[in-house]
Amino acid sequence: MNPLAAELNSIIENVNPHILEMLSEMGKKLYFPKGILTQSAEAKQKAHKINATIGIAKQNNRVMALPSITALINGIDPDNFLPYASSFGVPELREKWKNALFEKNPSLVGKEISLPVVTGGITHSVSTFSDLWVDAGDTVILPDMMWGNYSMTFGVRNRAKIVQYNTYTPDLKHIDIDSFESTILRESSNNKKIVVLLNFPHNPTGYTLSVDEAKRVSSILIGVAQHGSNVVVGCDDAYFGLFYEQETMKESIFSLLTGADKRLVAVKLDGATKEDYVWGLRTGFVTYGVGVDSNSPIAASGCSCSSSLKKPSLSDLYFALEKKTAGCIRGCVSNASHLSQSLVLKSMEDENYPKYKQEKFDLLKARALAIKEVLKDPVYSDAWDVYPFNSGYFMCIRLKDVDAETLRLHMLDNYGIGLISIGKDNIRVAFSCLEQDQVKLLFDMVLQGVNELRKGN
Ligand SMILES: Cc1ncc(COP(=O)(O)O)c(C=O)c1O
Repeated sequence: MNPLAAELNSIIENVNPHILEMLSEMGKKLYFPKGILTQSAEAKQKAHKINATIGIAKQNNRVMALPSITALINGIDPDNFLPYASSFGVPELREKWKNALFEKNPSLVGKEISLPVVTGGITHSVSTFSDLWVDAGDTVILPDMMWGNYSMTFGVRNRAKIVQYNTYTPDLKHIDIDSFESTILRESSNNKKIVVLLNFPHNPTGYTLSVDEAKRVSSILIGVAQHGSNVVVGCDDAYFGLFYEQETMKESIFSLLTGADKRLVAVKLDGATKEDYVWGLRTGFVTYGVGVDSNSPIAASGCSCSSSLKKPSLSDLYFALEKKTAGCIRGCVSNASHLSQSLVLKSMEDENYPKYKQEKFDLLKARALAIKEVLKDPVYSDAWDVYPFNSGYFMCIRLKDVDAETLRLHMLDNYGIGLISIGKDNIRVAFSCLEQDQVKLLFDMVLQGVNELRKGN
């Protein structure tokens, strides 16, 4: 093991040994290299005369640039988008995102979380999470309806065992928290560590827990941690903020889990991609929320410094996790797009940013409510059931007697209508892409397609 990794592990162990236990083999071995990056960072601070450290090119003390590139980007200095960003991310953006997390999640007030580490999008956040916390054969618990890419990340890349619970009760009236609970209880009694991935607003169903449901889900997870299981929870908040109904939980379940127990690690996986409608900019984040071990030296001393003479603090532990995360990124894509980070930061600093976000929220909410209104019509009810939805980009229907993939192809080939089929029965509609006046037309056409297939057309 690299001595730098061993040093980070010892900081983590000193603050909370359970967190060290929970890291994957890769997670334990990860560190942030001192080599060229650290030397360059030091030179950036102190080498005022000549800086011959980093692998970019300079001219007249500015970044070297082709005018055919710089002419395309107005309002951002080439020095703020052409050089590499740090593997941790642009510091101002990390701070800005962290402050926004506290604003968006009032239950975090009074809790300590890490600084977000910047990734190349939420897919990369999920895969970094998986690298740090999931070993081959580890159990990752997911709903049976889920974003398909989790299978690639957890199952194929990190060779985890994926265990699923029912997303909804069979009558589709409620989210099936009983099934979630029994799966968590069974798997935590069979394994020393469980990894749970929660995704709200949910892809594909567009469901977010109510406040009471969120409390129940978090208390199930906290309960098994208190009974001695190590629990790692990834909160995939890709569609965060798009909550359209009164009783829906308006903050991330991450805020209920952070600091709840010494054996519980909560990891927030989010980003600007969907929240700020910048999918192709590929800007995501990984943020940690953990508890301390009251038997560990820091809880007793409460001291906050990293000198070898003093005991490490919770912020030292967070910094150790951030370094491992940045090391993981360094070894994979090195760092996330500097241009994208600068754009996202500038957008968040715009005085009209909240107003612009509200406008897009209102638009998406109006589409979701229009779907609810249209689907109240009993004319559709012998063709499909509607899965409860209240948030995000999507909603799903469960077909009663027509195969979903057959219907998808029928709609595409005969009407030029694109839908997603999921399994035998489910069709996902991305209302994020529909204009409000297309809603009724779409469902009427789908009903027509169902009726044609029933007749064998
Ligand atoms: C639940 C969920 N998580 C993550 C992602 C990926 O987000 P990104 O584009 O930031 O990689 C998606 C995208 O489809 C998603 O639905």
